[in-house]
Amino acid sequence: MKKSILFVCLGNICRSPAAEGIMRQLVEKAGQSDSIEVDSAGTYSGHAGDLPDARMRRAASKRGYDLVHRARPIREEDFERFDMIVVMDDMNYEKVHRLAPSRREAEKIFRMREFFDTFSEWSYVPDPYYEGADGFELVLDMLEEGCRNLLTRISE
Ligand code: 4NP
Repeated sequence: MKKSILFVCLGNICRSPAAEGIMRQLVEKAGQSDSIEVDSAGTYSGHAGDLPDARMRRAASKRGYDLVHRARPIREEDFERFDMIVVMDDMNYEKVHRLAPSRREAEKIFRMREFFDTFSEWSYVPDPYYEGADGFELVLDMLEEGCRNLLTRISE
């Protein structure tokens, strides 16, 4: 059965497009591109149409991920289109939850932290926008682990 996953952060220019790029590559390597669809969106629309932040693109590119997503805000229709909506932090969770058309649709919302193991002391994926280069490396480490575990979970 086809599965679709939407990653969500605030601006849709750092964390969620990175998660999308990482997940897409994992899905391709697992030969599951025909059965798993991935996309990303933001709760804030101010960066709509933008490529991911240049610092994130640079950091991701060094790990072999080409981030070409164009930022877009999450919409209520995304609850129909996606099976899972994976948010990066509690603020994203609150905003996405408010947008859910029904309680049943709200059950599609997950936090990225639910898929951490070595990063289990973190309850959210930190916003790297105002941080230095280390912030981007930390976020990529967390997202690689989270996406790997998420793919294992949905493949079971
Ligand atoms: P993201 O990072 O939510 O990981 O895309 C941010 C990008 C932009 C802003 C905040 C966070 N901003 O306020 O413009």
